[in-house]
Amino acid sequence: MIVGVPRETYPGERRVALVPAVIPGLLKAGFDVIVEKGAGLAAGYRDEDYASKGARFVSDRADVFRAADVMAQVLGVGANDETGDADLRLIHSGQHLVGFLRPFGRIETLQALAATGVTSFSIELMPRTTRAQSMDALSSMATICGYKAVVIAADTLPRLFPMLTTAAGTITPARVLVIGAGVAGLQAIATARRLGAVASAYDLRPAAKEQVLSLGARFVELPLEATDAQDTHGYARAQDEAFYQRQRELLGRVVSESDVVIATAVVPGMKSPVLVTREMVATMAAGSVIVDLAADRGGNCELTQAGEIVVAHGVTINGTVNLASTVPYHASQMYARNVSAFLLHVFKDGALRLDLDDPIVGETLLTRDGTLTNSRVRAFHSLAALAGSRDALPTQEAM
Ligand SMILES: NC(=O)c1ccc[n+]([C@@H]2O[C@H](COP(=O)([O-])OP(=O)(O)OC[C@H]3O[C@@H](n4cnc5c(N)ncnc54)[C@H](O)[C@@H]3O)[C@@H](O)[C@H]2O)c1
Repeated sequence: MIVGVPRETYPGERRVALVPAVIPGLLKAGFDVIVEKGAGLAAGYRDEDYASKGARFVSDRADVFRAADVMAQVLGVGANDETGDADLRLIHSGQHLVGFLRPFGRIETLQALAATGVTSFSIELMPRTTRAQSMDALSSMATICGYKAVVIAADTLPRLFPMLTTAAGTITPARVLVIGAGVAGLQAIATARRLGAVASAYDLRPAAKEQVLSLGARFVELPLEATDAQDTHGYARAQDEAFYQRQRELLGRVVSESDVVIATAVVPGMKSPVLVTREMVATMAAGSVIVDLAADRGGNCELTQAGEIVVAHGVTINGTVNLASTVPYHASQMYARNVSAFLLHVFKDGALRLDLDDPIVGETLLTRDGTLTNSRVRAFHSLAALAGSRDALPTQEAM
């Protein structure tokens, strides 16, 4: 079984799907690994580092796709909306694909992927369970993003983060508010605290409170109860506009008192709720900073522009997307460990072990034999459940 690692082609993407350190484990399990020349360079991994661990090199991208039984990518078709479609011509039937594939993105792209006949696994759909923790690339990338968001904020803020008592007077610590205390938010809290800031956080999932407190941050209590706050996968459920409206009213004062807001509130597959309005931004002190990790899904701040840094009312609003790619060495290392753990789990003795009763396999399998097979993704896109599937529900067929 040959695992192929192509160079990532999304503009500005610096990560690579496998790093040299995971190759010996794959070779030991019977895989061969081929790597496109220069694939790891932007992340700090040289060709000779891969070669010394036993990987083979292929100079032409198309040859990697031609030879590999399993393609390992970071941003695969779907997740790469700039250059990803070019891979559709290279992927072929009988091949396997593992990577971020954006299953809640454009249905046309998912159908085109299915039509190639590839057996694809969407790493975003990994169950958030203890058993799957070593394969949870969403958590890995969120950890990187939460850290980097705070580092960016500290660099942009015209104030120090820690409290300092000096001969030139006492400096008060920066106040950091984290909205959305999931994996990225919790890492943002920990990083802000390490830098000496005073951190507070808010999340609509009641379960987040204990985690926020355990990191030494204050939990912002709002007199507001979300309906059915958490779904069976542990994610926040979308709320109605009246809830978000009330949330904005109640968050207003906390935002205006903060020097930094790190916004991470997202709902899978949905546009992110606007929680920080332009009026709220106007009440913040000049020089304050908002880093909007929800930028690529519409943003939590009304003034966020995806991929841009804008200044409004003296407040810098950073909407940089794909932040994980700006820490490519460790982002690739973590991603590679997740992907190789997944490969070692689903392939045994040179063959795919397609045990659909195993949630790690059943929930991540996206396409197979020309069909979009994933029931959660089919339901999201209002496609009828497949005959024989456990979730066969009558919905309008849009395929
Ligand atoms: N192995 C595991 O058990 C495991 C691993 C990772 C994550 N998880 C859990 O999965 C869940 C999702 O984590 P995630 O980081 O991927 O979440 P996410 O990236 O989907 O969302 C980020 C956070 O935003 C919050 N949010 C959404 N709408 C909001 C709103 N209107 N106001 C305030 N906050 C809002 C969510 O509750 C979440 O905490 C969490 O419960 C997390 O603890 C479990």
